[in-house]
Amino acid sequence: MKTAIYPGSFDPVTAGHLDIIRRAAGLCDRLIVVVMHNQAKKPAFSPEERCALLRRAAEGLPNVEVQMFSGLLADYAGQQNADTIIKGLRAVSDFEYEFQMALANRKLNPNLDTVFLMTSAEHMYLSSSIVKDIAAHGGDITGLVPDSVKNEILLRIRKDGNTWQH
Ligand code: PNS
Repeated sequence: MKTAIYPGSFDPVTAGHLDIIRRAAGLCDRLIVVVMHNQAKKPAFSPEERCALLRRAAEGLPNVEVQMFSGLLADYAGQQNADTIIKGLRAVSDFEYEFQMALANRKLNPNLDTVFLMTSAEHMYLSSSIVKDIAAHGGDITGLVPDSVKNEILLRIRKDGNTWQH
């Protein structure tokens, strides 16, 4: 059984993330989407909130599960018997950082390969930060996030403003 892991901050899940989840789910038997901590970011949503949004967004994808983990991705992959990490790539600018992480994860766990899925063209510009910024300023995030979680994200961001930013 092929288990793959799609890790990220998912703060919050975007339409681009859901596109990668759908496509990755077709490449493996079991896909674990795992909410993790990125030490360079100050999240707006708690890990529990991010998991709940992801679970609702991924409803109907039977081989997808959503979890959270606070340690090293390489260790988590070992615990889950996964040998594949899925990452989405939007642009060349993503590549250097992702390449570095892929090599570091492979050093930590030599059984681990990272597979990069190219973003769909319509999501090239999309990021969780852009979604939060648009929502915080009263803009329309239709199509930028999964429809099933749009209202929840809007309510939450508009209640708190943009206090998560550095
Ligand atoms: O969505 P993001 O913020 O780009 O995801 C980055 C994430 C969370 C996958 C990365 O920061 C990560 O793997 N964090 C877990 C801790 C870890 O394993 N760090 C070493 C990575 S080489």
